[in-house]
Amino acid sequence: MAGMVLACNIHITWYLWGEFLVIPFNRPYMTGNEHMYIDQAHSNRKLAGDGMFTNNCHNWLEINTDSKKALLTHSCTAALEMAAILADIQPGDEVILPSYTFVSTANAFVLRGAVPVFVDIRPDTLNIDEKLIEAAITPRTKAIVPVHYAGVGCEMDTIMEIAGRHDLLVIEDAAQAVMSTYKGRALGSIGHMGAYSFHETKNVISGEGGALLINDERFIERAEVIREKGTNRSRFYRGEVDKYTWIDIGSSYLPSEIIAAFLWAQLQDAENITAERLKIWDEYHYALADFEEQGRLRRPIIPEHIQHNAHMYYVLLNSLDERTEVIDRLKKRGINAVFHYVPLHSAPGGMKFGRAHGSMKHTEDLSDRLLRLPLWVGMHETETICAAMFS
Ligand SMILES: Cc1ncc(COP(=O)(O)O)c(C=O)c1O
Repeated sequence: MAGMVLACNIHITWYLWGEFLVIPFNRPYMTGNEHMYIDQAHSNRKLAGDGMFTNNCHNWLEINTDSKKALLTHSCTAALEMAAILADIQPGDEVILPSYTFVSTANAFVLRGAVPVFVDIRPDTLNIDEKLIEAAITPRTKAIVPVHYAGVGCEMDTIMEIAGRHDLLVIEDAAQAVMSTYKGRALGSIGHMGAYSFHETKNVISGEGGALLINDERFIERAEVIREKGTNRSRFYRGEVDKYTWIDIGSSYLPSEIIAAFLWAQLQDAENITAERLKIWDEYHYALADFEEQGRLRRPIIPEHIQHNAHMYYVLLNSLDERTEVIDRLKKRGINAVFHYVPLHSAPGGMKFGRAHGSMKHTEDLSDRLLRLPLWVGMHETETICAAMFS
């Protein structure tokens, strides 16, 4: 029975099974206040979206990111879909993005009929190579979608400058970047719009959840309508109109108050969560320095002007075979380390809906060699994990 439970929950459970220690890749962190706030939402008898807890989260996000407007959504995917509608993406339009990303970065735009145009990544940060963007622009290009991989910012100054010159929108996929900054500005708040994820695998969580940050005032009013099934219900709630009605396309993108109550507990603790994660990240970085020196792996590179949020600790092994060996070695010790994205340009969906612009050599090479190590608040096993990688 214990064996069955272990097999089912190896990714999410951490406990001693006899002498066998299982270290999961991720373990969602709870602040301790989630139940209290959910109970409060229950007592308030306000369970649909946009109640007190949603407002608290909106205010927190606006204050802490300096964004003009924050709107909770039920996922980052939903926030990206809203952004694609707001960007007025039409069939045949093109959107420039990295291939080394999650499927939603592309799919949100493909749903509107756009063609994702994939550009290679930088070998240092694994973010879109800003120097390759301009050559991928065509008369059909509508937007650039930088993805801040591992919560480390893309070169936003260059990207914004290119977008400005070509009259393009920038939609930041900041799914992994809550609490990260670029030159002191919150990631997600620099482009015209930005999307956060609060999925349980992220730093600040609500199970499923997300937010759209709107940094260009032009989009605020329409965003509220799209999020509320294409109606002006948000204005009705504020008493600005005496009835609400259907005025645009839209869907149901807002989460319930139960989700917002959970998220409120997490946002209040976001600084502590980030500090705890950074400590673990730093421990890995220190412990792995010798292996880097010996040429066995490469550690993450964080540019000076970027403050990351320790969303992820990854290493780059020397080859796919070496990565497989390290994964197997760690697995035998009960340590769950995982690779990441299969590049989108090589996936069936990517080949059907998108196209690669130029060589994808870094995307293909690095995706084969990248390994993510366990990182969650409360873990104390960084040294054990590092020691187990090559022995
Ligand atoms: C870069 C990126 N974009 C988008 C998403 C989608 O986030 P969600 O699960 O909140 O829809 C993820 C999820 O991992 C992601 O890593």
